[in-house]
Amino acid sequence: MLVLGIETSCDETAAALVAGDGTVVSDAVHSQIKLHAPYGGVVPELASRDHLRNVRPVIRQVFERAALPPSAITGIAVTCRPGLTGALLVGVQAAKGLAFALDKPIVGVDHLVGHLLAVFLKFPGAPEQVPPEYPFVALLASGGHTALYRVAGPELAQVTELGATRDDAAGEAFDKVGKLLGLGYPGGPIIDKLAKDGNPDKIELPWPMRRKGSLEFSFSGLKSNMLRWVSEHGLPGDDQTLRDLCAAFQRRVVDTLIWKALEAAEGEGIRTLVLAGGVAANRELRERSAEQAQQRGIRVVVPPFKACTDNASMIAYAGLTRLARGENDAQSIETSPHTSLPQSTKKGRGKRGEALIAR
Ligand code: KG4
Ligand code: ZN
Repeated sequence: MLVLGIETSCDETAAALVAGDGTVVSDAVHSQIKLHAPYGGVVPELASRDHLRNVRPVIRQVFERAALPPSAITGIAVTCRPGLTGALLVGVQAAKGLAFALDKPIVGVDHLVGHLLAVFLKFPGAPEQVPPEYPFVALLASGGHTALYRVAGPELAQVTELGATRDDAAGEAFDKVGKLLGLGYPGGPIIDKLAKDGNPDKIELPWPMRRKGSLEFSFSGLKSNMLRWVSEHGLPGDDQTLRDLCAAFQRRVVDTLIWKALEAAEGEGIRTLVLAGGVAANRELRERSAEQAQQRGIRVVVPPFKACTDNASMIAYAGLTRLARGENDAQSIETSPHTSLPQSTKKGRGKRGEALIAR
């Protein structure tokens, strides 16, 4: 099997060719970071137009890099939800056109399922790791979503949400704090770099929702406290204070994510934790989760760096099972801004006491 994946849900135009065992044959990502940077966030209209410009060149690139003709593919997997409607439409229309021209099957993929399965991708030349076994608990932390899932298999129906954020996603909190500190967009990787040489204990900040028993997250309080700190002290005047502030913020986010993810795994009686989404590229999250999980006898499996942030390899992989079964959504794929994963936590009105670990 060889699947062409296409991803245009937000600010990356990506295509990839992935083999049946998860080996990435070729992949290409065109990032729109520079385009959106002056605005401090993604501008949907600009995103759609840029996808339109780049979707065909990016698809062409993956075939050229693999030295394969388009007719070599078994089928196409394309992100159809969740995401920006205009952006999603560009990828879906390109995929439909190609599937029609090549007379190949096509399946629509939920972007979040792509993130959850990215851990199974094999990049030639990258260090090999033992893939996780089902069922596992996954912490998905990206720019738009932050949630904990029980993943019993690669199909949508096999994924259960254990808890999610009531307000900001973890990546969103990084980006907003990056903006507040005047660091540029996206804030996550910049804060990650600065925090490396900072002291996380130098500046006092509260811990976000560390209430025992709840698997829900809330990062808006921490964000407000960062704003309060800046209002009281002004923007950090020297590099070391900036590093300390980034380190303190990052430690609060990272340790909260790890603590809840490990509680979820223990609550489910599962010994494997998978990290997924753009925030899983965070150095401190990768290091500290491994340490803290080991103390509790839990194994952490993290995707390779470039499989954490948005890419089309994970979309191709997520479409594999259905294409292998001979399924074909043909021209019926529709886009949606919402995920198709079951959601137990609603933004702004969490389940409060209900999403308890005690089951
Ligand atoms: O998964 P992703 O590429 O896109 C979404 O589906 O949202 O995640 C992007 C998010 C951004 O908020 C970005 O700041 C964050 O992931 N991110 C990081 C790091 N690299 C990317 N956050 C913290 N540390 C990083 N190293
Ligand atoms: Zn994503």
